[in-house]
This record gives sequence, C-alpha cells and structure tokens, in this order.
Amino acid sequence: MQQLLKSLGDVTAVIGAQWGDEGKGKLIDLLTPHFDILARASGGANAGHTIVVQGKKHVFHLLPAGSLHEGKTIVLGSGMVIHLPTLLEEIETLKKAGIDVLPRLKISRAAHIVTEEHKERDAALEKAREGGGIGTTKRGIGPAYTDKAARHGKRMESLLGKEVPKEWKEAAELLVPCITDTVSLLHDALAEKKSILIEGAQATLLDIDHGTYPYVTSSSTTAAGALQGLGLSPRALHSCIGVAKAYCTRVGGGPFETEANEVDGNRLRERGGEYGATTGRPRRCGWLSIPDLLFACRINGFTHVNLTKLDVLDEEKEIPVLFQGGMKKLPGWKQSTAGITSFEKLPKEAQSYVKIIEGEINVPVSFIGTGPGREEMIVR
Ligand code: IMP
Repeated sequence: MQQLLKSLGDVTAVIGAQWGDEGKGKLIDLLTPHFDILARASGGANAGHTIVVQGKKHVFHLLPAGSLHEGKTIVLGSGMVIHLPTLLEEIETLKKAGIDVLPRLKISRAAHIVTEEHKERDAALEKAREGGGIGTTKRGIGPAYTDKAARHGKRMESLLGKEVPKEWKEAAELLVPCITDTVSLLHDALAEKKSILIEGAQATLLDIDHGTYPYVTSSSTTAAGALQGLGLSPRALHSCIGVAKAYCTRVGGGPFETEANEVDGNRLRERGGEYGATTGRPRRCGWLSIPDLLFACRINGFTHVNLTKLDVLDEEKEIPVLFQGGMKKLPGWKQSTAGITSFEKLPKEAQSYVKIIEGEINVPVSFIGTGPGREEMIVR
C-alpha cells in the first residue's frame, strides 16, 4: 500500500467515473494523510458527502471530504460556485466539534457566489421543464454558472470591497482572510515540493460537455475540468484515480442504459443504501457498463481505478454487466465479502469479476471497496 501511495506522485486527482455518488469520499479519506493540500475545483453545494464528527453524521457540501484531517490546507478553487450560508454552516459545525478550519481555508478570489435568487431560479426552471425536468439538486448551480458565462456573476472577491451587500456582511467578516489567489498558492506549494489531492465533484457522465446532456450538471467534472478549475497545467497531474461502483446508480432524470428492473433495483438500493446525501432522493440503480467506464478512462486518463461497494453484490446469483457487444451475466459469489482487505481472500468469482473489468478497461483496479468503514478496502 505504501508503495502504491508513493507511486501516485505529487498531484493526484480523484474523479467520479459514472453519475456521481461512487464513494469518492472514502478514497479521499484514505489518501488525505499522504497529501499536504486538499483542493476542490468545481461544482458547489450540489455535491454531498457524509462525515462522522464525534459519532454524529454530518453532510458536507462545499468543504472537501478530507477537511477533518488536522493540518491540511483546504482550497476551494476558481471553478467552484459557493453558497455562502452553506459554507458558514459547515465551518460552524466543525468549530462546534473543536475543529477550526478557518486558518487553513483558502478560497479563490475568482470562485463565484451562489445567491438565493439562483436557487429560486433553479427551482422555477425545473418546474417549467417538461417531463419531470433534469432533476437538479435545486442548489442554484445552473443559474450561477449561467451568470458566470454571461459575465455578470459575482465572485468571491466582491466580499473584499468596502461596499458589501448586507446579506453578505457576516460571510465577509469571517471569510475575508481566506479569500486569496489560490492559483499562485498552488503553484508556490508545488515549487516547495508540497503535494495536492484534487477532489473531483459530481462525475464524468454529468459533465457539461461530455455527459448525457441535457441531463448533466453545469460544470466541467472531468480531470481536465478539475485542472482548469484550479489553474493547474495539464502536465501537473501525476495520477488520476477513477472511482466507479461495482454496479451503477444515477439520481435525477436522463438515460441509464443498464438500469435494473424494479425488483433488482430495489434490492440494490436497500443493500447499498442508495439515497442521495444532498436531497435524500432514492437513487436509480442498475448494473455496471463497461462502455461507459471505458469512455471515462479515455476522457480522464485514469491511471488507477477504485471499484467501490463490491460487497453490495454479495447476494447476487448472477451479475449483469454491459460489455461492448451487449449485456452478459457474470457468476455471483453468494457469500460475504464485507470487510475483506486482501484480494486473495475474495471468493474466486469476485476476483474474476474484478479481473474481467480490469481486462476490459486496461487500467489497474488498485482499490476495491468492501464496506462503508475506512478500513474496508483492498489496496493492491
Ligand atoms: P445540478 O448540479 O443541481 O444542476 O443537477 C444536475 C444533475 O446532476 C441532476 O441529475 C443531479 O441529480 C445531478 N447531480 C449533481 N450533483 C450531484 C452529485 O454530487 N451526485 C450525484 N448527482 C449529482
């Protein structure tokens, strides 16, 4: 494991390979101790990860998943859209738990601000769309990026001015010391041989350019998008870990070729706890698609893959998988893999499931999740 972590290099990105909720947070938690800086590049409070603070579950939307680890610099990059009350709430929640992130929080001057009007517009647009809409998280993401592209958005640097609108006063008082030129900060850090863990938000198939448009989010969710959002050169990236569930889920509308029938979908949802962290919505559940995974490998240049939640498939007799030539059923293993930490201890059908995927995508599946706990991961 130490050898693998060393081989990742100074700049590593963790990128969702499907439609989000692949379990990126757990991998980030595992990798965080080995990096100096945690950086989020794009998206906003549409993302959500559950963090247990002093035995209590909290859902965070803006702060990176590794923020609980003391001593790490936290960067919210230029490609992000930030809802100030949500950020203040997350800072406060951590403060109450004895963790003061403010001294190590760096927010890009160029990140955009999500307003209450953006949220209202998001909801109104969804209502006006036919056929149930996109199924957005109603966090104002689309309208905030619309205003950014139209060049009349408000950026975090607005908080630095003397005339701050009164609804932003509280945020300004707290956050002004954190607002900075994060591009220079990251480049200076690299010059000092510091390491950066880039935390991708949402996922490849939700990308505004390459996803299942119009059923996508409004930002660039790929590795290239993450580098752009942080102002890092494409040559800066050493490793890119794609995260994919051993099956597949999607929240909101849009195509889902491998979506399971109701009975199978309900079983996967209950076994996998597939309910949205941000909206609580039940996730649509289905099977792994190799063509989609290959597409994500191409777009992002994955050097490694993390296959998550393998144990959710433990009770399946046969596991449908979409290959280039069509749907095939692979044999299940019908025994528990929960908590297994060594590849050799997996039942042989589970080993072969992983190896078949690996063979198809030609990228090593170096991390395999076997349960929600931090230690429940095979690293190979
Ligand atoms: P928006 O990003 O709120 O505009 O939502 C657009 C689409 O992206 C909807 O289908 C959302 O369900 C989906 N989406 C946005 N963020 C996430 C995420 O973090 N996980 C999963 N789906 C997401």
